[in-house]
Amino acid sequence: MINLGSEPGCQLIRQPEPELMAGDQQARAYAEADFEEPHNQFIQCLQTALPSLPLTGTALDLGCGPADIALRFAHAFPRWSVDGWDASEAMLLYGDQAVERAGLQNRVKLKNVYLPVQDPQIKRETKHYPLIFANSLLHHLADPMVLWTEIQRWAMTGAAVFIMDLLRPDTQKQATQLVEQYAQNEPEILRRDFLNSLLAAYRLDEVVAQLHQAGLGQLQVQVVSDRHFIVWGEVP
Ligand SMILES: C[S@@+](CC[C@H](N)C(=O)[O-])C[C@H]1O[C@@H](n2cnc3c(N)ncnc32)[C@H](O)[C@@H]1O
Repeated sequence: MINLGSEPGCQLIRQPEPELMAGDQQARAYAEADFEEPHNQFIQCLQTALPSLPLTGTALDLGCGPADIALRFAHAFPRWSVDGWDASEAMLLYGDQAVERAGLQNRVKLKNVYLPVQDPQIKRETKHYPLIFANSLLHHLADPMVLWTEIQRWAMTGAAVFIMDLLRPDTQKQATQLVEQYAQNEPEILRRDFLNSLLAAYRLDEVVAQLHQAGLGQLQVQVVSDRHFIVWGEVP
């Protein structure tokens, strides 16, 4: 019998999806998709959650994909730079093109980095960051603890952190409805990825448990839409 991952009265079982968005078609569909609303929300929530950021600095964007969030951040914080890390060459290709179109090559720099970082050269060369953010990375990771431990690894003492990700719906039907509501006119490959991402996402109680396990229980967690939560605060 096919396991749809949910039964009446039961919560939807998490169904992991591949970590990297490595396919060209997949990366292109993602890079060309309309993320205006959630990505604007990411920047607005970050501004509200972290009102005391220094005037200038370099932020680290983990799982930067095609750099839309990194570029929006760079526009909103004109005295900041961004280092974006992702291990999908296809995504980085679209990201580099977007950075070039925006003329922000001096401030937004993308690099092929797989998390957790193992490359000795990257380990040697990487400095610590005063701000680390990530959008929609957590649900892709094979081990969710990688996000929280890499944040601790690359954050300066007292650094700010801001994470936004999808929430797993309670039922398969709700997941399908969200795809209809928010990706009705998108290409099939993007609709498929969105559904898979919703099914791979974590519930809020699971995220809170991860934070406690990582020693980051002081970070704040909040649901900000019908499909997103945020985590923010200072890394000790
Ligand atoms: C859903 S996309 C989000 C991209 C971007 N943050 C955004 O919001 O538009 C997730 C990205 O994380 C990257 N990724 C997933 N696991 C990774 C890992 N272990 N190391 C580096 N990048 C990873 C994928 O390749 C993909 O580009």
